[in-house]
Amino acid sequence: MATAAPSAASRIAVVTGASSGIGAATARRLAAAGYRVVLTARRKDRIEAIAEEINAAGHSATAYRLDVTDRAAVDEFATAFKAVGVLVNNAGGALGLDPVATADPDDWRRMYETNVIGTLNLTQALLPKLVASGDGTVVVVSSTAGHGTYEGGAGYVAAKHGAHVLAETLRLEIVGRPVRVIEIAPGMVKTEEFALTRFGGDAERAAQVYEGVPDPLTADDVADTITWAVTRPSHVNVDLLVVRPRAQASHTKVHRESSQVHRES
Ligand SMILES: NC(=O)c1ccc[n+]([C@@H]2O[C@H](COP(=O)([O-])OP(=O)(O)OC[C@H]3O[C@@H](n4cnc5c(N)ncnc54)[C@H](OP(=O)(O)O)[C@@H]3O)[C@@H](O)[C@H]2O)c1
Repeated sequence: MATAAPSAASRIAVVTGASSGIGAATARRLAAAGYRVVLTARRKDRIEAIAEEINAAGHSATAYRLDVTDRAAVDEFATAFKAVGVLVNNAGGALGLDPVATADPDDWRRMYETNVIGTLNLTQALLPKLVASGDGTVVVVSSTAGHGTYEGGAGYVAAKHGAHVLAETLRLEIVGRPVRVIEIAPGMVKTEEFALTRFGGDAERAAQVYEGVPDPLTADDVADTITWAVTRPSHVNVDLLVVRPRAQASHTKVHRESSQVHRES
């Protein structure tokens, strides 16, 4: 099937959380597909290094330090553009794996702020620019956690359900305007930082998430999926794409060589 090459007006792609994992891989993939990619995240040194690497490969990238929860900064960022073709709302993650009975409300607040309000901030600020491009796409990187629950996951699951609802509602509200809304819901993806962040830097606990799992998804697998969905012809809206590794049938049904079952994603 033919890939839709971005037109001049829709060639800019903004990626949040581009300093690591899925966001960094998506920035690389979209740049290779012909987009001028704007990498955003809080760690400026990292996005600058990735942008440099993309430019050295003959593609086009810039870096902009941005905390998605800082609305004033997001609004300021948006003034830099007349039109934007693609917004990938990827910044987010999980904090803790505690049961409802004992979970830290601050973790819940932070997860909601990043995964939901961060997505809301960028989407609101850039929606007029996406419309102005004449062919815009909003991507929401939710999770399979946005479509089911598991013990210990409630705070993250609630936040990702929020991200899912934002995507689904936005699609209803803007139908008729030239903007697609695509939700990508990955299952278990082995990235360097996701589980480490979830467990407050505890590398041993983070490693257990993927223990014995043959071939969890990689960041590049998800980036490939995002790029595929974005580069479909403009009239094709991939509403929701759930992508898991073959070894994971559900949140709680994961094949491990050690035959243990952990819950993640
Ligand atoms: N790994 C998985 O198994 C998995 C599965 C399903 C869905 N997901 C989702 O996919 C997305 C990316 O996950 P990942 O595995 O690539 O994790 P990751 O490597 O930990 O990446 C998270 C990214 O979000 C950025 N970020 C966090 N808080 C931010 C804030 N307030 N403002 C701006 N950027 C912020 C981080 O950058 P800075 O720290 O530099 O700001 C980082 O670039 C997340 O939304 C995650 O929930 C992951």
